[in-house]
Amino acid sequence: SNKKIVFSGAQPTGSLTMGNYIGAVKNWKELEEEHHCIYSIVDSHSLTVRQDPKAFKETCISFLVQYLACGLNPEKNIIYFQSHVPQHAELNWILGCNTYVGELGRMTQFKDKSEKHKDNINAGLFTYPVLMAADILLYRSNLVPVGDDQKQHLEITRDIAMRFNNLYGEVFPIPEIHTPKIGARIMSLQEPSKKMSKSDDNVNGTIYLMDSEDTILKKMKRAVTDSANHVAYNEEQPGVKNLITIYSSLTGLSIEEIVERYEGKGYGAFKVDTAEVVIEFLKPFKRRYDEYINNLDYVETIYKNGAKKAYELAEETMKVVRDRIGL
Ligand code: ADP
Ligand code: NA
Repeated sequence: SNKKIVFSGAQPTGSLTMGNYIGAVKNWKELEEEHHCIYSIVDSHSLTVRQDPKAFKETCISFLVQYLACGLNPEKNIIYFQSHVPQHAELNWILGCNTYVGELGRMTQFKDKSEKHKDNINAGLFTYPVLMAADILLYRSNLVPVGDDQKQHLEITRDIAMRFNNLYGEVFPIPEIHTPKIGARIMSLQEPSKKMSKSDDNVNGTIYLMDSEDTILKKMKRAVTDSANHVAYNEEQPGVKNLITIYSSLTGLSIEEIVERYEGKGYGAFKVDTAEVVIEFLKPFKRRYDEYINNLDYVETIYKNGAKKAYELAEETMKVVRDRIGL
């Protein structure tokens, strides 16, 4: 069959952003109809930044509920917490012994993050891409639906897989990146040259799926644009381009249709309408969120079940890996 194994994840820090949704989770939902999909809440990755233990536990559960609220269907995929499947850590070590310090040093995300967390440039931050490679390769995945910012990490994953296969014989398929045609990089509403991120200090630049309707309207009205006051999709108007991208991704309208719709209208109306599009999109999200968060027993069965299935698949791969390397 042409069913593929699909793996992806997001770090449980803060809450999901519109960038996470449009760049990744939207595609997860589309792929789960046709393929074998494994979606992880990569809680171990979040430990590269210090977390308050009690708050972290709550954030992890809230993240799972947010995945479900996005419409992911636990009957059609595997949803689980990375830390519940210990083979991630085991493969991380083995792959780390097949990764060069030099190649990790070239990762731009490491450079950016160590710039931001100067007081805590820990070894985990440096070897983060190895754990990510282990996440993907553990399930012998073929396809990884992520945003643009993960391109370099996917490249190193492919290099590590090829190196391992060359040394020990074919074990891992070489995974392919899957990014959306529109929206692979949603930008900050405040600094349209920078990607929207859940860990941005300027929260006005980030739309969180959990934001209230008032907050969304406020953030949209404050979105940085330019002085052209003419809705157009080009590099000279990055703020407006970003809003059109969000509008298009959430409504399915083409860029051309949107530009045409706002011909002769100023940014004011366009921003309010974009806020409205986001608010409408989030209505069913919020409804589902409330349903699940009030039914945590059911949520627990979902992630326990997910971990059980993931564990079995992971163990199948690890039996081969251990054997090949002589453990
Ligand atoms: P963040 O950078 O917000 O902390 P993660 O690193 O957990 O998010 O990424 C989760 C997924 O969301 C990844 O597939 C990533 O590529 C995608 N993603 C994150 N930010 C954006 C963005 N601004 N635009 C598009 N995709 C994004
Ligand atoms: Na990221």
